[in-house]
Amino acid sequence: MYFPDYRPRRFRRTENLRRLVRETRLSVDQLIYPLFVVPGSGVKNPVQSMPGVFQFSVDRLIEEVRSVVELDIPGVLLFGLPEKKDERGSEAHSENGPVQQAMRAIKDSWPELTVISDVCLCEYTSHGHCGILEGNEVDNDATLEVLARVALSHARAGADVIAPSDMMDGRVAAIREALDEDGFTGAAILAYSAKYCSGFYGPFREAADSAPQFGDRRAYQMDVCNTEEAIREVALDIEEGADIVMVKPAMAYLDIVRRIREEFDRPVAAYNVSGEYSMVKAAAANGWIDGDRIMMEILTSIIRAGADFILTYFAKDAARLLRKQAYK
Ligand code: PBG
Repeated sequence: MYFPDYRPRRFRRTENLRRLVRETRLSVDQLIYPLFVVPGSGVKNPVQSMPGVFQFSVDRLIEEVRSVVELDIPGVLLFGLPEKKDERGSEAHSENGPVQQAMRAIKDSWPELTVISDVCLCEYTSHGHCGILEGNEVDNDATLEVLARVALSHARAGADVIAPSDMMDGRVAAIREALDEDGFTGAAILAYSAKYCSGFYGPFREAADSAPQFGDRRAYQMDVCNTEEAIREVALDIEEGADIVMVKPAMAYLDIVRRIREEFDRPVAAYNVSGEYSMVKAAAANGWIDGDRIMMEILTSIIRAGADFILTYFAKDAARLLRKQAYK
């Protein structure tokens, strides 16, 4: 069937024709909004490197969560900052840490809102690494026990989904076992399975105050150059009990999202990370790009690549735009 019999342009003529053959639909159902919780009260502190993103104390966080709920976004991802950091990141599993308090407060008001908790130590350790140090290296197996305690404290505070982002080997199994032993068989695990050692996390480190004090994360996060290794990571995490697997960052790793979608029978999430967000905001602020249009194009591309849902700082902006389009 060749030109002139088949003319692909026929179905591009009007918006209503285009609607009929549209293959990918971005929906608010596919968005999760990340939030940063800090100690204290009355705090709403703008993150300079991420326009539109703030650090909130629990009281102010509630206002923000209300707007998330009003926009019909299905869930939030919580990051916490401690009062005090130490070598072992002990505050990460404190029953009354900002994140644990925030979870209880959110669940009190909106029990239906999905609460996903990021499990990692880098925001809580004085050295900024994602685990317990032995000399200058992160000790994998010593870290597992702490991560399991953190996960348990989140489940007890009401988290629906536990999301380990540390990249230690065996952490999904350690967390699953701890949750099950304590009766949290219904708490799901969203594993950051293919988490690359990426420059795109730059702006996040201001938001979460989590920059490593020496060295980098290459000894635990994945090498940017690898695909087959991502497949092995996902296979391992599924074997260990991951309910959902994630690729992070998203935009520069859509090939990985597609491979995982095709090779595994598990939902796939993608994390559209801080650098991906801030680049768009910065270019839009300069008038170099149409920020809304690029945002929608990026989010659509992540879904088109095969992600079931996206963790993104754009969630509120995108939800607003989708709503406007729906009523136009
Ligand atoms: C914690 C963690 C990081 C991100 C999510 N969880 C930072 C890192 O690994 O350095 C990055 C998120 C973002 O950039 O938006 N380990």
